[in-house]
Order: sequence, then structure tokens, then C-alpha cells
Amino acid sequence: MNIQKNISLKKYNTFGIDVTAKYFCEITSLHDLSEVLQLEEYPNIFVISGGSNMLLTNNIDALVLHINIKGITIISETNDTVTVKVMAGENWHQFVLWSLDNNFGGIENMSLIPGNVGTSPIQNIGAYGVELKDVFFSCEAVNIKTQITKTFSKSECNFGYRESFFKREGKDKFIITSVNIKLTKSNHTLNTSYGTIDTELAKNGITNPTIKDISNAVITIRKSKLPDPNEIGNSGSFFKNPILNLKEFSSFIEKNPKAPYYKMSEDEYKVPAGWLIEQCGFKGKRFGDAGVHDKQALVLVNYGDASGKDIIHLAQQIINEVDKKFEICIFPEVNII
Ligand code: EPU
Repeated sequence: MNIQKNISLKKYNTFGIDVTAKYFCEITSLHDLSEVLQLEEYPNIFVISGGSNMLLTNNIDALVLHINIKGITIISETNDTVTVKVMAGENWHQFVLWSLDNNFGGIENMSLIPGNVGTSPIQNIGAYGVELKDVFFSCEAVNIKTQITKTFSKSECNFGYRESFFKREGKDKFIITSVNIKLTKSNHTLNTSYGTIDTELAKNGITNPTIKDISNAVITIRKSKLPDPNEIGNSGSFFKNPILNLKEFSSFIEKNPKAPYYKMSEDEYKVPAGWLIEQCGFKGKRFGDAGVHDKQALVLVNYGDASGKDIIHLAQQIINEVDKKFEICIFPEVNII
């Protein structure tokens, strides 16, 4: 175990923000993790995994643990399903590809989501009609203070839209070390109705799609809309889509009859923040090295040397304009540190 000093975190966060960790340690095993948590000289711990859902706005005056524990193991199976234990440091998309290679279904719609498996439960990642909670079985997490490992069931994780226990009451208290995911071996439930998946499949003449076909369609759609963090710094959707109640929605849709929306229940209507932001004229705009992606206004980007504060400043301007134009308050989805 090697504890380093004053390490730049630029390559450890997909936004590419250059802040410094006072101390830094790469964790490749559960044993290392348990050892490092027992060191009394580092009372403050900060965890970074894929670094794909955070905006770093300050240097980190703590011991930064980069969780890089690998491993994928089948822990149980029936004729139709399989439960797989995936260690926290596995890259999410590599895991999706592994599941497709084995013809295991359930996560194909979540292809190409950046980040690691260990952080996927924190914000209940989701895309194209499927969320992690749909395949999640349980996860193991170490309590940072007591070093006791606890297994969290699905209900204990209290998942919501881009929300979970780990983002609220459990924030900064646990380090997720592995996630158990339940996939299908046969009779896969295909989810092609969201957005442009059907259109993409039809374009390729596919009428009877396999899980691999769906994954390929999602990859094509994502590549056409979302910037690749290896090419341009970003954290996916920066904001959550706001959810309006019936009264708010009725007044909104009366004034904006062309707005897209998604009815979640009789009293909950999700409105795409990307649409609201585009209507405010921000899509494709650049302010120094901070900008709004030109193909999806929900994504803020770092063209090179933007600081976390530059991104925050832009986000605040967007929040103000959306509020002024639509009287709708939008909130960041990424964790602002
Ligand atoms: N739209 C615009 N302008 C834009 C962006 C979107 O008018 O700049 C409109 C689209 O035309 C469409 C609607 O908004 O009618 C929805 O757009 P899209 O299908 O791209 O999805 P989204 O609601 O903007 C959410 C997730 C994405 C996920 C996609 C697909 C959130 C915060 N974001 O975006 O997740 O990939 O659906 O399922 O829920 C992420 O979390 O990092 C992420 C990329």
C-alpha cells in the first residue's frame, strides 16, 4: 500500500478538473482497504472510483482512496437467472460487455454509462428505460468509521430517480466494495420502447432484436448525443429532470404546448431539463473552457482547463435562467465537492 502526497486528481475524474489530493492511495484489495481505514493519522477519507459523477471544486484535504478492486464472479444461478458479484472497481461498461458475451440480459440498455460498478448504486444509474434498481440484488459496503462490512438489500438502498440511501443518510459513511446483480439467462425482457431505440433498430432492419442488438443501438444513440469523457471532460447529465405535480405541469404545458414530457403517475410529470435549457439558449454555448454540450443541453463540458468553480458558475446561470423563463427549479445530479 503506497500513500502518495499532493497528487493531481485530473485523470481520476471524468470532468477532468485539476484539483490536488493531499494524500492519495490506490486500493486494489479488500485487505488494503481494511488496513488503510485503520490508520489513525488519516482521519478524513474521500472516496473516488470512476470519478464520473462528481464535480470537484476545491483541493481535497483528506486521504483520497481510489477504489480499484476488480473481479466478476457468478454466485448463484437457476435455469433462467444468474446472480453475479461484481467488485467495485470494475468499469460499468466492461461489465455490460461481459454480460453480453455470456448472453446475460438486463443491463443492455445501460451500455456505455461511464463510471464503475461500485458507484452505480449511489445515484441508481439509468438510461433508456432501465435503472440499476431493476437488476440490483444487494451490495456490500464498509462503514468508514467502524470498518464493519454490511450487506444492503434493495429496499435498504431506498432507490429513487438518481437517488439512494448512499446519496442521503449514508452519504460519506460507507464505501461500496461489491454489487450483486441479477440477470436473465433466457427469456430476456427486452426494453425497446424508450426514445429512439425502436427507430435505431428499424434503421438497421432489425425486427427481432437480441440483447446485443439493443446494446449496439444504445451505443450508437449515446455516441451521437453524449460527449466521450476521454475526448472532452464531462459528467453525463449535470442536472436531474425536474418532476412537476399535476397543478404545476398543467400550467407549464398550457404555456409550452410543444414541450416533451413523461407521465410518471397521475400527479408526477417529468420534464426534460435538456429541453428547458435549450429553450433558454444555452445549448452549444461556451464560456471560456466551460460549456453546454451542443447535442445534449443537459451535459456541461470542460473544454480543457475549466475549474470546478467555472462549471458551477455556468450551472448557476442556467438554473437562474430556467427559473426565470419557466418558474421551474432544476437541481444538479452530480455530486458537487
Ligand atoms: N431534449 C432537448 N434538447 C436537449 C436535450 C434533450 O430538446 O438538448 C429533449 C429531447 O428531444 C427529448 C427529451 O428532451 O425529447 C429527452 O431527451 P433524452 O432522451 O436525451 O433524455 P434526457 O431526459 O435528456 C435522460 C438521462 C440520461 C439518459 C437518457 C436516456 C437524466 C438526468 N438523464 O436524459 O442519463 O442517458 O435519459 O435514457 O435522467 C446521465 O444520467 O448521465 C445520463 C446521460
